[in-house]
Amino acid sequence: MNLRRLRLNSNIRDLVREHYVTKNDLIMPVFIKEGLDGKNEIPSMPGIYQFGENSFLDEVAECIDLGIKAVILFGIPKLKDSCGSDALDEEGLIARSVRKIKETFGDKIAVITDLCFCEFTDHGHCGIINPHLKTVDNDATLEISKKQAVIHAKAGADMIAPSGMMDGIVEALREGLDSEGFKHIPIMSYSTKFASAFYGPFRDAAESAPVESDYLPKDRKTYQMDVANAREALLESLIDQEEGADILMVKPALAFMDVIKTIKENTLKPLCVYNVSGEYSMVKAAAMNGWMNYEALMMEILTSFKRAGADMIISYHSKDAAKLIQN
Ligand code: PBG
Repeated sequence: MNLRRLRLNSNIRDLVREHYVTKNDLIMPVFIKEGLDGKNEIPSMPGIYQFGENSFLDEVAECIDLGIKAVILFGIPKLKDSCGSDALDEEGLIARSVRKIKETFGDKIAVITDLCFCEFTDHGHCGIINPHLKTVDNDATLEISKKQAVIHAKAGADMIAPSGMMDGIVEALREGLDSEGFKHIPIMSYSTKFASAFYGPFRDAAESAPVESDYLPKDRKTYQMDVANAREALLESLIDQEEGADILMVKPALAFMDVIKTIKENTLKPLCVYNVSGEYSMVKAAAMNGWMNYEALMMEILTSFKRAGADMIISYHSKDAAKLIQN
């Protein structure tokens, strides 16, 4: 059997190539920090910045120029309190930011909002705390999540992405959005989200690390999934699909290719993967040390997500990848 015949000529290699990353696949995360003037590089994520309210539009403009289809927004408000009030305010940071992007750029780029409370609470957990159970109160958090979703939609968000891993969140948001006239706004659920060490750099970027106290754990293991569980990973996504999620997600991505493939084989919904902060930082660190080639490594990883079954990728590499891709 001669398999090398088709590898000899690069044009023929292109003809038989099974998977490509295109600009249509890429979503760029954008961190917006209230009160910041200009931009601030995140030490654990070289090349990625927190942007002030006077500079994030430049970042969005750059994404548009590069042909990226969507940004996903994360906010770092000045005010952090026990219930995440800034996220529940129509004049809050994310609502203001979405309005500004839409006023400036219209439909040139889709705006996705991450819907969670960890960046908005003083304890850093993803919702309202139940001190007796020493965790986030599921149903109380569903109620405020509905409010947050409607605020995002009213501000002009094109898609809402709940990332808090509360049970029943998709059903609750669908109901909340529909009853306020936002039946047309899709929900991209972080449907399978693991309690992962790969989120470390993000918590620097979003200033959202959970704070340890007598009545709260310093991790999110009471709501995010155990990294060891593959069957539960599928169940989580299938339940969100049943609740009405328009797009499912696996997060993190790189160490969870098996999960991506399994979910893809068991759903007809589009599947997003989140190439998270720690995955980005590992690649950057190796490249900056001269240990590996940044561009080759990045494209290999992104292509592998497509091979595993991803339809779209949230990645901090999105801008770098878009610069390399010609389509
Ligand atoms: C909010 C949220 C997190 C990420 C996206 N949305 C952090 C977390 O769960 O602590 C992580 C993204 C990344 O690591 O790049 N809940």
